[in-house]
Amino acid sequence: MSSAPHDTGTANPAHVAIIMDGNGRWAKMRGLPRQEGHRRGLEALRRTVRNASDLGLSVLTLYSFSTENWRRPHAEVSFLMGLLKHFVEKDLSELADANVRVRIIGNREDLPADLRRLVEHAEARTADKTGLILVIAFNYGARDEILRAARKLAAGVAAGRLAPDAIDEAALSASLDTWDLPDPELVIRTSGETRISNFLLWQSAYAEFVFTPVLWPDFDRAAFEDALAQYRGRERRFGGLGAAALRSVDVA
Ligand code: IPE
Ligand code: IPE
Ligand code: MG
Repeated sequence: MSSAPHDTGTANPAHVAIIMDGNGRWAKMRGLPRQEGHRRGLEALRRTVRNASDLGLSVLTLYSFSTENWRRPHAEVSFLMGLLKHFVEKDLSELADANVRVRIIGNREDLPADLRRLVEHAEARTADKTGLILVIAFNYGARDEILRAARKLAAGVAAGRLAPDAIDEAALSASLDTWDLPDPELVIRTSGETRISNFLLWQSAYAEFVFTPVLWPDFDRAAFEDALAQYRGRERRFGGLGAAALRSVDVA
């Protein structure tokens, strides 16, 4: 893993978030068990973290397990839990050496105690790192995150610490798991699905979306750079007027 990000000389998004989808289909196409797809998905994750560091990105968020993924068969759920455990145990020192700071977002109360301790350890061990911020969304659901934030704010009001009028966009943002992270500027989803599946609903209000047919285990440097190139070709308007429209606007 490179610890020396270089400037590509182009405006990359500061925060890229990826919905890593298609592991099961990748395996099915090859007549392999779904677990093999997840194993290969973990390799794609490692590769993507290295590429994000190399490309000089500041924040990379990876959607690894949703609050809805508990609906899968028990064996698959425990395999995915085991994979996260394996990743943290095996890769943590390498990530730390590469100056990567690890953050976990999602509902950690419902995780098995050993996994919860492990993610806390991963965050503590890399808290002083200043390179790429790697955010793993695990047992993450945007509606769950917004509900937890709403409850926190409501508790503040009930305790007399917070006036209802003080609940503005900044206060809600500050109560989310991503309280100290910039909003994603680019959201990539692999596998050809074109939905958001309860990912960063609040934070991606003005994100650019790139949907690629590539299945997650096949997501490589070229696919990553292609998504970044698509992002750079977009005109972001945030509700205002684009540059061309502004030049020709009749202000009289
Ligand atoms: C993404 O691959 C990994 C997780 C959601 C955990 P899938 O397991 O969703 O793969 P498909 O969508 O069945 O191909
Ligand atoms: C979204 O993928 C969740 C993750 C990538 C972790 P899913 O495969 O679970 O999403 P749906 O069910 O197709 O919407
Ligand atoms: Mg899927």
